[in-house]
Amino acid sequence: SGPQMRTPTGVRAHEDQEVNAQQGEWLTTSGGVRLRETDKSLKAGERGPTLLQDHHLREKITHFDHERIPERVVHARGAGAHGTFTAYGAAESVTSAGFLAEGRETPVFVRFSTVLGSRGSADTVRDTRGFATKFYTEEGNFDLVGNNMPVFFIQDGIKFPDVIHAGKPHPDREIPQAQSAHDTFWDFVSLHTEAQHHALWNMSDRGLPRSYRMMEGFGVHTFRLVNAAGETSLAKFHWKPKLGVHGLLWEESQMLGGFDPDFHRRDLADAIETGAYPEWELGIQVFPDTPEQTYAGIDLLDPTKLVPEEIAPVQKVGRLVLDRNPSNYFAETEQIAFHVGNLVPGIDVTDDALMQARLFSYVDTQLTRLGGPNFNQIPVNRPHAPVNDMLRDGFHQDAVHRGVAPYHPNSLDAGCPFMAGDPQGAFVDNPVKVPETVKQRAQPASFDDHFSQARLFWLSMTPVEKQHIIAAYGFELAKVYEPAIRERQLQSLANIDADLCEGVAIALGLPAPSPTVELADPEPSPALSMLDGSYPPD
Ligand code: HEM
Repeated sequence: SGPQMRTPTGVRAHEDQEVNAQQGEWLTTSGGVRLRETDKSLKAGERGPTLLQDHHLREKITHFDHERIPERVVHARGAGAHGTFTAYGAAESVTSAGFLAEGRETPVFVRFSTVLGSRGSADTVRDTRGFATKFYTEEGNFDLVGNNMPVFFIQDGIKFPDVIHAGKPHPDREIPQAQSAHDTFWDFVSLHTEAQHHALWNMSDRGLPRSYRMMEGFGVHTFRLVNAAGETSLAKFHWKPKLGVHGLLWEESQMLGGFDPDFHRRDLADAIETGAYPEWELGIQVFPDTPEQTYAGIDLLDPTKLVPEEIAPVQKVGRLVLDRNPSNYFAETEQIAFHVGNLVPGIDVTDDALMQARLFSYVDTQLTRLGGPNFNQIPVNRPHAPVNDMLRDGFHQDAVHRGVAPYHPNSLDAGCPFMAGDPQGAFVDNPVKVPETVKQRAQPASFDDHFSQARLFWLSMTPVEKQHIIAAYGFELAKVYEPAIRERQLQSLANIDADLCEGVAIALGLPAPSPTVELADPEPSPALSMLDGSYPPD
């Protein structure tokens, strides 16, 4: 290792410090000076006033005054756990990612979350759930920052502030805390009809998970996989829970919100503590990397669309077991920093415009949330691979860098030639063709189809699930004050399905409108399977 290298030994030294944060037999100041008294401040006489001179009082209060950091701008409420991912090796033909090689075991941290509520909000509200996994692989950190629903509200990240502003509590009264039952949410969804598909998933039982252990997870976007020979394919990631997918009834979710707002985090922690370790299998849908980047007529760069598993089976590539609760919520669950750009060789991003904006947003927000540019040095974020970067100084710099020349190339520091040649295992930016017409604020025409997949999802529901969906829309929309918003939302429901629209219209006491669009359902195409050898196609 060169002089600029923070070796894994360095990482261990840091972890020792972490363990030793409370050591010795005496209470001390943060400077390590033993204290005689921490219950009474230093006063002028028995009754005071208190003296400014009391440096222990000032240190204690000052530190307390600064204990809070900003909560996440979204996904503020969460619960996490440590575990291990074990690969089956089934993905080796399509990706060179080392952690997917047969038998490889990789430590992980997973954080589950609601999206809209603040840190202290209730767990069981109707919302999308985050399902974010940090794999501490031998090739560096890989973050799969997914949700429990396979589609998203918007097609372009430039609209993320808009959809979140609409979903967060109203700015005047800061109500409602964490539900979609309000005017701005339905105003947005009914005006930006690409959000209708995701909203329908929210209104289904998927919006009320029974437990984090019983949720699917989805990477949502299409990723580009690269195998050892440099061949590429497109892929979507899926987590499949061993316990199956289960929802709460709306009434259960409301009661739990009152009786036990910590229901989901308690369930996760209790399950792990009692040895009922939550488990998922990781699966991938793999598609040929064609210039169109479509499969069976579905645009793979449109995150409001999914590819039905009937036409592209999910192939299982590994197993995740969560078996250790965090020992400190703040240190681990709060300070973990996920980033869509934490990629390892063999897994790359695509031109999905939602994904592209995410590549910027996570690190940007963490600069504020975690107080500067060195948050990857926080123990829960530290790679388990050697780190040898040229990033220096900054707030909360924890490393003591050696050497004098943090620039490349240099002739002063021994061990600098770490970029010479093309080291094995390096991340390779994959050449991708871009169209000749560049620099335009545009999107493909297929992105204008906002209803056909919502219809597909509705039609796949059982009668009971359909009843739940109608009741959910009825409840949420009844809380909308502005009549025009309710009517506009009904129009979207009419475009999805007449029965759905009629059911909700009856619940609201409004007439059901007629559809304004003709739906074209996607054509099925033969499934390609990586495991039976039909993928990649000849
Ligand atoms: C946080 C998922 C779209 C910005 C999160 C978290 C998840 C998530 C799971 C919580 C991470 C944690 O537990 O710490 C998704 C998914 C998306 C999506 C699945 C779409 C498919 C976006 C977009 C943006 C964005 C388009 C911005 C352009 C953020 C930010 C945070 C966040 C700023 C807070 C991160 C932090 O404070 O550490 N997202 N997100 N997300 N997301 Fe997204």
